[in-house]
Amino acid sequence: MTHPNPSNEVAETSTSASESVPSQELTHQRIVVLDFGSQYAQLIARRVREQNVYCQILRHDIKAERLAEIAPKGIILSGGPASVYEDGAPRCDPELFKLGIPVLGICYGMQLTCEALGGKVDNTPCREYGPATCEINEHSGIFQGLPDSMDVWMSHGDQVSSISEAFEPIGKTGTCPYAAIRHRELPVFGLQFHPEVTHTPMGGQLLRNFVIGVCGCDPTWDMGDFAEATIEMMRRQIGNHRVICGLSGGVDSSVVAALLYKAIGPQLSCILVDNGLLRKGEREMVVREFSDHFKTDLHVVEGEKPFLETLAGISEPQEKRRRIGHAFIDCFKDEADKIQDAHFLAQGTLYPDVIESGADPDGPAATIKLHHNVGGLPEELGFELIEPLRDLFKDEVRRLGIELGLPESLVWRHPFPGPGLAVRCLGEITSDRLAVLREADSIVVEEIQKAGLYRETSQSFAVLLPVQSVGVMGDARTYENAIAIRSVNTNDFMTADWSRLPYDLLAKMSSRIINEVKGVNRVCYDISSKPPATIEWE
Ligand code: XMP
Repeated sequence: MTHPNPSNEVAETSTSASESVPSQELTHQRIVVLDFGSQYAQLIARRVREQNVYCQILRHDIKAERLAEIAPKGIILSGGPASVYEDGAPRCDPELFKLGIPVLGICYGMQLTCEALGGKVDNTPCREYGPATCEINEHSGIFQGLPDSMDVWMSHGDQVSSISEAFEPIGKTGTCPYAAIRHRELPVFGLQFHPEVTHTPMGGQLLRNFVIGVCGCDPTWDMGDFAEATIEMMRRQIGNHRVICGLSGGVDSSVVAALLYKAIGPQLSCILVDNGLLRKGEREMVVREFSDHFKTDLHVVEGEKPFLETLAGISEPQEKRRRIGHAFIDCFKDEADKIQDAHFLAQGTLYPDVIESGADPDGPAATIKLHHNVGGLPEELGFELIEPLRDLFKDEVRRLGIELGLPESLVWRHPFPGPGLAVRCLGEITSDRLAVLREADSIVVEEIQKAGLYRETSQSFAVLLPVQSVGVMGDARTYENAIAIRSVNTNDFMTADWSRLPYDLLAKMSSRIINEVKGVNRVCYDISSKPPATIEWE
C-alpha cells in the first residue's frame, strides 16, 4: 500500500547525497561512499558507522582533487542499477585511484574499478540474485580472520568475467570466478557480492577489515559526535531565522526537536496537530514531555472537528489518508502562518522510510527519495527543509535520542502512523467508534508493558473491525464489535512477523477488553506476517 502523507513526521524531498550528511568538518577521520544509485548506499554508510567510523555519502562524480581535500581514509564505490557498458552509465573520476587512498568497489563499483585500472573488462550479462557461497583463498586484508568459505548475497546484472594482470582473484563462487579481487600493488579491492546486507553474515567483519585494517581508521566516532556536528551545522545553516518543527510525540520528530533546541533554543517553534485520531492520553503526554524538555514555543492545534468532518462517511483507506493529508496541511499551514519570520521547516524523515528512489537530472547520487508516506508537506508552504535524520535508521535515531537526553519511554515508543487511529478504525470513522478503539488500544499497550514485552515487540496495538458478531453477556444476547490485536516484531518495518505473545497475556487482554470496553464482545489475534499482510490493517 502507499500512504499519502498525513503525518507531521515524514516528508518527501530531494537532497543531493553530498548535502544530506552533515559535513563533520575534518574533525573526524572518515570513509566516503560514492553513490552510483545503489539501493544500499545508505546501508553501507550505516555499516561503517557501526564500526565507530564516520561515513559520508558523496556524489559519484566528485572530482579527485576535491576528494584529496576531504582526505578520506578510504573510499567505497557503491553498487548501482546501471551496466558499465550502457551509454551514460555513471562513472567516478578515474584519477581517484591515484590518490593512494584505499578503495573498495562493491558490485557495480567493482566493475568500474576493474575498468579504470585493468584496461578492458569483458562483462557478460549474468543475472544473479540471492545467496551464494564464496570460497576465499587469501586470509589477509579484507578477508583477515574470515573462514575459507562464507555465505554472501549476490544482486547483479553483469559480472566481471576477466580481469587484468594488475588484479588477483581472492574469492570465487560457483558462478562467479571473481567474487572478490585485490589489486597487486594498490590498496584497491573489489567485491561482486554485497557485504553490507544482513544476508552476508560476515559482511560486517569484512567491512571492519577494510575500514580499520586496510584504511587504518580509529574506531572512535559515535552518535555524540554526530549530534555535535549536526547541531553545529544546523546552527550555521539557520542563523537568526525561526524554525518550525512538526511534533507528533514519536521518536523521530522528538529527536529533531531536541537537536534543534540544542542548536537554536528559543528560535524553535513546534506545532502539534491534534487530529482527533491520537491514542488515549497522547496529546497530554506530548505536551508534558515537551514542556519537560524544551522551554520554547509550542502550538497545539485543535483539529478534531475538521478531521472528523472530512472523514465522515469515508471507509476507503486511501481516501481516508488523502483527506487526512489535506486536513493536516490546512491545519498546519493555518498555524504556521501565525508564526512570524519562520523560514525553515524541520522534519523527521528517516532513511528506512525511504522505499522508492528515482534519478534526478543531477545523476544517481542526487536521487530523489520518496517516503512511503508520499505527499509530505507541500512545497507551497514555502519553507526551506531541514531533515537531519534522513540518513539514519530507526535504531540509530533511538541511540541519538538517548545521547540527547530524551527519556527512554519516549525514545522506545512504538511507531504510530501519521493517519493515526483512522487506519485502525476499519470502516467509517465516528467519535464513538474511535472511543471504543482508543480504550481497547490502551489496554493492549498497557498489558504488553506490564508483561515486560514493550521493547521486545516492535508495534503492538488494537484494530476495530467493521463487523459485529453475536455474543452472550449475563443472560442477554449481544451483537457487538470485534477487536483485533496486532503485535509484530521487525527490524526495519519493511518485513515483519507476528509476535508470539504468551497465551496468558492474550487471555488477559481479551478479557479486559471485553469486560472494560463497552460495545466489544469479541477479540481476535492477528497471526499474519508482512508480507503478504501489512502491519497496519489499512
Ligand atoms: P505497513 O502497514 O505499510 O506499515 O506495513 C509499515 C510501517 O509504517 C507505518 N505506517 C504509516 N506511517 N503514515 C505513517 O506515517 C502512514 O500512512 C502509514 N501507514 C503505515 C506503520 O505503522 C508501520 O510502522
